[in-house]
Amino acid sequence: MMAKNFNDKTILLTGATDGIGRLTALKLAERGANLILHGRDKDKLDETIKETSKKSGSNKIKGVIADFSCLDEVRIMAEDIKDRYQELNVLINNAGAGFSAPRYGKDGYELRFEVNYLAPFLLTHLLLPLIKKSTPSRIVNVSSAGQRKLNFNDIMMKDSFDPVYAYAQSKLALIMFTIDLAAKLRGQDITVNALHPGTYLNTKMVREAGINPWGDPASGADAEVYLALSPELDRVTGKYFNVDKETLADSQAYNAQARQRLWHLSLGLTNLNGKQYEDS
Ligand SMILES: NC(=O)c1ccc[n+]([C@@H]2O[C@H](COP(=O)([O-])OP(=O)(O)OC[C@H]3O[C@@H](n4cnc5c(N)ncnc54)[C@H](OP(=O)(O)O)[C@@H]3O)[C@@H](O)[C@H]2O)c1
Repeated sequence: MMAKNFNDKTILLTGATDGIGRLTALKLAERGANLILHGRDKDKLDETIKETSKKSGSNKIKGVIADFSCLDEVRIMAEDIKDRYQELNVLINNAGAGFSAPRYGKDGYELRFEVNYLAPFLLTHLLLPLIKKSTPSRIVNVSSAGQRKLNFNDIMMKDSFDPVYAYAQSKLALIMFTIDLAAKLRGQDITVNALHPGTYLNTKMVREAGINPWGDPASGADAEVYLALSPELDRVTGKYFNVDKETLADSQAYNAQARQRLWHLSLGLTNLNGKQYEDS
């Protein structure tokens, strides 16, 4: 059983201003959690907080801002959270950029690799000291069933750019990170899992890619809430879920050498020293 009631938990949800994230925010607010909602646009974030507070009746919703295509903004956001909060029980890395987003972000990195993978890699590391103080805690990484093997020779796809491949590569990277981080945190009462929230759910990302949506984003929000809060998953870590069923990811996720290569590449690209997961 989880030690805390939902209404004692502090949850950070990234990409809360639209689609699956926005619906997840409402479901979590209805359960009474202390919510930190992330957005990249202040007006849209304020409007999301206002609507979510009104619909849920919660007065425990606050916001943080960062464009994930700029790692310095992620660093400032993490500092802001560490200054303002004493604990963080759940981190849901939901924000994501799709096929139709621009090729490069503010830092000049391939945008999907940065927003969908490097930013949550960095944010999670920077928040680990707070997450460790708040056990039992969970990290939920919103990946996708669309996965492609990482092209280590050209991870930013400078030579040949394919936005669908770039998206799928970033999502597999997030699963590889999930597996490694779970192993590094084993025994510390912090679980780390990844999920595919559903296929072509009707969200901005899917519509902007010109895809005819297949499903309701509310089902994706249910899956995120399940991974974030379900007591059944108290001891489950390092796994990948297709919606709410544990399954296997692309085979590269289980290649320890590939994961180690990605880990070192990521520490370099984010200027981290990799010590954040060690016992302090
Ligand atoms: N929809 C699906 O069928 C599906 C399938 C598999 C996986 N997923 C994953 O589910 C997650 C949620 O996606 P969604 O379908 O709900 O898409 P969405 O409606 O487009 O929402 C994406 C969220 O991420 C935020 N975001 C995008 N680029 C950002 C950036 N540069 N910096 C900070 N935040 C940024 C958006 O902010 P704004 O509101 O400002 O745009 C929005 O809050 C994503 O990780 C996505 O890859 C979705």
